[in-house]
Formats: sequence, C-alpha cells, structure tokens
Amino acid sequence: MSEAVEIPEEHDLDTSWMENMGEWGANARPGKRGLTLADIQVGSYGDLPEVSDNMTGRPRGAAVRPEAYRVGAYSVHTLSEIWLDNAEYLYEEALQRQWSSATDIPWHTLEPLPDDVEEAECFLCTFFNEVEFVAGDVPARWIAKTTPDYLEARNVLVVQVMDEARHMDVFRKRALANGGGLMRMSGATSGFVGSIDLARDFTEMSTRLHISGEGAVLTMFRMGELFGQNEAEKTMYRLCAQDEARHVAFGVMHLRFLAAAEPERGEEINCYLDEAEGQLISGQQNPAGALAETSEALAVLLGGGMQHYDEGHKKLLVIRRRQLKEYMKRVMSAGFGERFENGRSPIPERYAASA
Ligand SMILES: [Fe+2]
Ligand SMILES: [Fe+2]
Repeated sequence: MSEAVEIPEEHDLDTSWMENMGEWGANARPGKRGLTLADIQVGSYGDLPEVSDNMTGRPRGAAVRPEAYRVGAYSVHTLSEIWLDNAEYLYEEALQRQWSSATDIPWHTLEPLPDDVEEAECFLCTFFNEVEFVAGDVPARWIAKTTPDYLEARNVLVVQVMDEARHMDVFRKRALANGGGLMRMSGATSGFVGSIDLARDFTEMSTRLHISGEGAVLTMFRMGELFGQNEAEKTMYRLCAQDEARHVAFGVMHLRFLAAAEPERGEEINCYLDEAEGQLISGQQNPAGALAETSEALAVLLGGGMQHYDEGHKKLLVIRRRQLKEYMKRVMSAGFGERFENGRSPIPERYAASA
C-alpha cells in the first residue's frame, strides 16, 4: 500500500500567470511566403502606438507586469521618428536573401592580376572595409535606443548590421585571397562617413547613412559589373548591391512616412538634405583625400590598368553622374523632389533635368 505524498506548502503551485495574458485566440495564418511578420499583425498585436511608453522591454501585445524594471531608456519612442510602411517585408526579404561570403562567391575564378590592378582592387577593398564598419556600427547604436514596440523597424536594422558584417568580411576576404593584402587605410571614416555617427536624431542619421552614404555605395556596387575583373568580384559586388538596395529603401520609406506624418518637420529634413548634397557636390567637384584615392583606384580598375587610366577616368565620371542621378531619384521618391525645382538644392540644374 503506497503512502500519500505530502506536498510541502512552499511548493504549492501558483498558476496566476495563467490568468494574465495578452489578447487570446490569435490565429495567424501563413501566406504565400510562409508565416511572415506581416501575417502576424493580427488583432491588437498589430496595433502600433503613436507614442510608446514601454520602458520595460515588454513584447508588444503582452500583458503588463507592474513590478517589471525599466531596462531601456528608449529615446526613439515616437512612431514617426523611425517608422516605414514596408518594414515587415524588408525584414523578411533580408532573411530570405542572406548569402555566405564563404560559399556563394566563386572564389576559384580569381586569377593573378597585374600588380597595378591588384593594388587598385585591394585599395578599394580596404576603403569598403572602413565604410562597411561604419554602416554596421551606426544603426547598431540606434537599435538599442528604440522601443521594442517598433520591433519590425528594429529588426530591419538588426539584419542590416548582419549584412554589413558580411560586406566587411567579403571585402577583407577578397583583399587577402589573390596575392595582395590590405592597403593603407583610405581615411574614409575621417570625413563624411565618420560624421554619420554624429547625428543627434534618427532621421538625421538615416538621411546621412541610408540615403546619401549607402545610396552612393549602392551605385558603385551596381557598377561592379564594369570594374570587377573576374566572376568572384562581380558576384561579390552584385550580392552586396542586393543588400544595399534594402538599406537605401529603409531610408527612402522612412523619410516618406515621416514627411506624411509630420509635415512640420519638412524644413528640418530639407536641412539634412542640404548638408548631404553639399557633401556630394564638393566630393564630386573637388576630390580630396579618401575620395581622390578611391577615384584613382576605380579609374585603374575601370580602364584595366594604369596604361588605360584616362579611359577608366571617363567611365568613372559616368559612375559619379549616375550616383547623383540615383540620389535625386531617391529624394524625389521620398517626396522631396521640389528642392530640385525651386533652386534650393546645390546640385547643378543639368543633373536635375536628366534625373
Ligand atoms: Fe554594406
Ligand atoms: Fe548598407
């Protein structure tokens, strides 16, 4: 005969947690692309607060725990400060299109290059290492400053940090894989690229990073078909461009959202764009330091060697013009195209006419 087991009083089950829940009965269904973040915007879980007072790290839609500590002093807690309409889609696309710098680049297509061409490629790889470092570091800082209620926008930035880590490593790998190595640092982080980190406001940062800086880098990556010397390099630039297009899209969509939600911030945004365009124009007309050396390296690659430098330089001018035009298209798409018509933009009119 078995004896009854006595449960000591301190082991009594407290199941009060079962009575504290968010909205119950959620039945999110997978769509064509599986169960995406867009598919789980069901009931109150999809409600985005215009202003978030969530300082405890509470997942959006979970029941409040009154005694929970404040864990984050989230300075970004107003929706318009960071939001964009397609955040869920950008995030899912980023997850689906992750690639490996170890196995998705046909490294076996690398072949010894003439010294000047290898040096130019290695210089460009060194420059991109510096640029990609900033492109990962800066959004990373803002992620932790953003309320968890805006998790979709945060998640896009989280994947951006992953993308930038891969960009940094793929350029490092290329520099070390073909008889060359890293060159003297370009100093890119001492100029405009470094100043991105000085932004006091998320939108200021996003305008500098996503629209201006990464926009220019995206055009360069897209032209990698022209200056890549082999399939490994062309693939590397193509895959980086694919990621970069998403980062730029974040900036454009965010600016569009903010301009519609808070038209009174239009003048402030125009000031950020004034600054970005001033840098773009001075960089194009008066190359100095990092930009001058990067331009020379690009001209060597585009020409196929020092002996065809002039030819390469002509091709580079086409890339520089394209950077401006693509930049202008993004600004127009974000809803600030007027500045190219009313004389506010420092970009010469001839570019405006052809953008
Ligand atoms: Fe990047
Ligand atoms: Fe990027």
